[in-house]
Amino acid sequence: MRSIRNEASLHDKKILLRLDLNVPLDKEKISDTTRIDKILPTLKFLNEQKAKIIILSHVGRPRGKVLKELSLKPICENLQEQLGLSVKLISQNINEIKNKNFFDKFNEKILMLENIRFYAEEEKNDNKFARHLASLGDLYVNDAFSCSHRAHASIVEISKFLPSFSGLQLDLEINALTKITSEITKPITCIIGGSKISTKIEIIKNLIPKFDNIIIVGGMANNFIEYFGHNIGKSIKEKNCAPIIEEIISLSKKEKCEITYPEDVLVSKDLNGSCKKKELNEILDNEMILDIGPKTINKVKNIINSSNTILWNGPAGYFENPNFANGSIEIAKTIINNNKLNKIFSVVGGGDTVSLLNSIKAVDSFNFVSTAGGAFLEYLEGKKLPGITALNQ
Ligand code: 3PG
Repeated sequence: MRSIRNEASLHDKKILLRLDLNVPLDKEKISDTTRIDKILPTLKFLNEQKAKIIILSHVGRPRGKVLKELSLKPICENLQEQLGLSVKLISQNINEIKNKNFFDKFNEKILMLENIRFYAEEEKNDNKFARHLASLGDLYVNDAFSCSHRAHASIVEISKFLPSFSGLQLDLEINALTKITSEITKPITCIIGGSKISTKIEIIKNLIPKFDNIIIVGGMANNFIEYFGHNIGKSIKEKNCAPIIEEIISLSKKEKCEITYPEDVLVSKDLNGSCKKKELNEILDNEMILDIGPKTINKVKNIINSSNTILWNGPAGYFENPNFANGSIEIAKTIINNNKLNKIFSVVGGGDTVSLLNSIKAVDSFNFVSTAGGAFLEYLEGKKLPGITALNQ
């Protein structure tokens, strides 16, 4: 992989820079800026080298549709403010932009194209779309480690058409994760939560042989709770998961990896409601599971206390509502206490998890914090990430 840091001459080069600016948005307001903060050094570096930058990024999952609430506008404004440099958002349909000369009609150093996932071709890794994107620049830089598990046009196919490089933040994440995974000590516990069930459930199977404990919390745990015969009301879940859960259970027995899922939960009738503690057999049709309960918290604490390494990806509940933040906060506190005593090594990953840690000002209390969620888990799995493979070819 060639790093853009080592490229000799970037003067006046038009750089297509893929970033992951997929930050949490609440009514078009950014609730956590970590992913923006982390890529500032890359933008400053390229600006100092007198390069011209075209930012490519997505936010959310618009699935090929233009959705006003998923515009990059608030992100562009935040970036501009933090950089102290003008960043111009280009809302024009990308397919109508003719070629890289388009840059010259703006008196700007940094342009940002609107949400790349407004185009269905992006997620299809469409060759023609990628070729067109590539025609807008001279070089391609991937500084979005957290998107590198996605075989999308602006991550993979684009690199076929331009000299391609890794960015500063991507280098940092890969170096740190390579070091961590080669020095890891057992017992290893992996805590997996969050709401992106489809991204993560398949991954669990491949993590089983590597870890001593896998603790399943958050949205994904709902599928397990239902599998074991309990009503989960209107909780989020993934369809047709029984076969994969069966595989997970049988493989965990074979590999002696303990799988833990919630024994009790906190529920509400809606996301903004107050919380009610429930045993698994007490959940009603009009309720949704939004956090783990006290018995589960104690069990998780005991597992953390007897581990040497903790890898944590995805919150235990809907922490955006403080009534359902307790499970995640208790997990964070237990890891931090063990860290202070030098009893464990802890790595945390994922946009929502980082945002949770920021909300309790705990982001510096872990050994390493990755901005990546799904990519972090796939990296742990030992899988080759398509975005990284593309940079190596
Ligand atoms: C992430 O938040 O993990 C990345 O931005 C990728 O988002 P995705 O899961 O919607 O592909």
